[in-house]
Amino acid sequence: MDIIEISGVSKAFLAGEKNVLALSDISLTITEGEFVSIIGASGCGKSTLLRIIGGLEKKDAGEVLFEGRHIQGPSRERGFIFQDIRLLPWLTVEGNIKFSLPKGLENAEKLIAEKLEIVSLKGFEKAYPKQLSGGMAQRVAIARALVNQPKVLLLDEPFGALDAITKLKLQEEMLRIWEREKITMILVTHDIDEAVYLGNRVVVMANHPGRIQKIYTNEMGYPRSRISPEFNIHKGIIYKEFFGDQEIPFAYAI
Ligand SMILES: Nc1ncnc2c1ncn2[C@@H]1O[C@H](COP(=O)(O)OP(=O)(O)OP(=O)(O)O)[C@@H](O)[C@H]1O
Ligand SMILES: [Mg+2]
Repeated sequence: MDIIEISGVSKAFLAGEKNVLALSDISLTITEGEFVSIIGASGCGKSTLLRIIGGLEKKDAGEVLFEGRHIQGPSRERGFIFQDIRLLPWLTVEGNIKFSLPKGLENAEKLIAEKLEIVSLKGFEKAYPKQLSGGMAQRVAIARALVNQPKVLLLDEPFGALDAITKLKLQEEMLRIWEREKITMILVTHDIDEAVYLGNRVVVMANHPGRIQKIYTNEMGYPRSRISPEFNIHKGIIYKEFFGDQEIPFAYAI
């Protein structure tokens, strides 16, 4: 079943005197249970697209449907994980997660405990954000998004600020959560390795105006090997989307 249908979406912003076309005629249909990676150069509209799907931003034109209905605004059915983690420093881990739940929910404690276990943070319920490492804080953010039992998770460069090893661990956890909870994942990333390792499809976006350049299906099954020749073939295809047949120029940053 199609869970998200995006057709002909455009969005412009006024930046100073200039009108920036952040998204131009974006069409993308996502099937329930997919893990879709979105990758592209800085400023090509990835966050804007994710925010429109999340109902945090309005589009100028086109249609975005969630389970066949127009998206009107944010919903607990579509969880958001931001790059900057945004935990409330005056609340404990438990308090931060509870804060995102509807007030007075009867089984809140049980739900929170369950999600903390999923992200391997059992025993840290009473810790405050300043007592956590970056990776732990991002785990809390993941638990906070999961506690509302979303059908879709929108992840905006969730591991971008983490060190390489923590990032790999959290990628594994995301896959575990995806397989266990059957949540549809839409992950925005700068990282080709991450996009290819996680996504069953990789959407490559281009800049000026922000648009879809290519939608690539990664046929590799899960679990995937990061060091297999097959994985490198898929990665190479995405590299070529960005850089063509040339070696990557040093100055080019994505
Ligand atoms: N609220 C806003 N007001 C004005 N311009 C905006 C706003 N949000 C985004 N833009 C512009 O829209 C374009 C796309 O921005 P967006 O944040 O979606 O890019 P991105 O692909 O997520 O980039 P990055 O990889 O750096 O996070 C950029 O040119 C940006 O300047
Ligand atoms: Mg962004």
